[in-house]
Amino acid sequence: MKKAIIKGTGRYLPPRVVTNHDLEQWMDTSDEWIRQRTGIEKRHWVPEDGGVGPSDLGFEAAKIALERAGWTPEDIDLIIFGTMSPDIYFPGSGCLLQHKLGLATTPALDIRQQCTSFVYGLEMTDAFIRSGYYNRILFVCAEVQSTAIDISTRGRDVSVIFGDGAGAVCLEGVETEDVGILATNLHAQGELANILTVELPSPKLNPWITAEMISQGRHYPHMDGKLVFKTAVRRLPQVAKSTMKKAGLSIDDIDLFIPHQANLRINQAFAKAMNLPEEKVFHNIQRYGNTTAASIPIALDEAIEKNLIGNGSTVVFLALGAGLTWGAVIYRFEQ
Ligand code: ACO
Repeated sequence: MKKAIIKGTGRYLPPRVVTNHDLEQWMDTSDEWIRQRTGIEKRHWVPEDGGVGPSDLGFEAAKIALERAGWTPEDIDLIIFGTMSPDIYFPGSGCLLQHKLGLATTPALDIRQQCTSFVYGLEMTDAFIRSGYYNRILFVCAEVQSTAIDISTRGRDVSVIFGDGAGAVCLEGVETEDVGILATNLHAQGELANILTVELPSPKLNPWITAEMISQGRHYPHMDGKLVFKTAVRRLPQVAKSTMKKAGLSIDDIDLFIPHQANLRINQAFAKAMNLPEEKVFHNIQRYGNTTAASIPIALDEAIEKNLIGNGSTVVFLALGAGLTWGAVIYRFEQ
């Protein structure tokens, strides 16, 4: 049976770097608070005056992934785009990226799984490839969040953690049993949708949004950070263990855990709960902040570049994010 195999990866971070000290100018926060609570030192943001969307960042990452896969855009059978910050309300960023790649009618779809987009999307690519519907899939995750957060003291609990960026992966169907995705577990709990959400604009309201609602900040993300933190620390070890059990693997069989980069403390608590040595868990949140959907493919690309993983490596991708959604995917690279 054909399975989805990673043929190329790429990442792109916009050049503007915003440090914790920069944030101190705009809100009542401190480098010390941000480092202690989140591990973040800096993040990349698009230009302040706008003009750059996730499809632009995704395009840059996609070009690198395509080149490494040895594909041209015409080789792509399907584009999947993961984002919670689409360029516009509709159509999806996948369609905008398709046009940027110079493609005429290649299908493109968006998924809206926030921080869990990469693990959800990886299972989807494998399902599309196993079923024979598509053979070469470009899977891009990209976010521009800096233009949609409250950069003032009112929004400091959320705005200090988010960064912009993109990661891209080319996946191709290969006849194999032993490599590719070995096991997945995906979950959602809509009961907790309101603990991490952007309420407006909302078609439930008429009008969708008013100047008064904007002045109340209801168009900015709202997060019960403590509850998200507590849930992540409980759910991530659970889903990692259940997925390893499904694949018949133990911790010794895993070369690297690549968790979503939401908070360094969440991932350190995950490592402790799993009894993992420090070097088995990948971190780059210090430099990028939380790039939501893009965080795992950016981390994957860096881990490959640093030779932490490569031929034959077994990796666990895992995330928890808005929805709430969470999940894990175990992937083994080709020899
Ligand atoms: N700078 C300084 N002080 C701050 C800041 C800030 N940026 N933000 C909040 N504070 C203050 C609060 O006002 C509060 O002050 P008080 O005690 O006087 O009331 C104090 O610091 C503690 O605030 P908490 O919100 O309780 O801080 P906490 O330790 O929970 O840290 C954080 C906040 C970092 C957001 C943490 O809760 C967290 O990381 N949660 C999980 C985030 C996450 O994983 N999100 C999911 C991914 S995102 C997605 O899916 C879209």
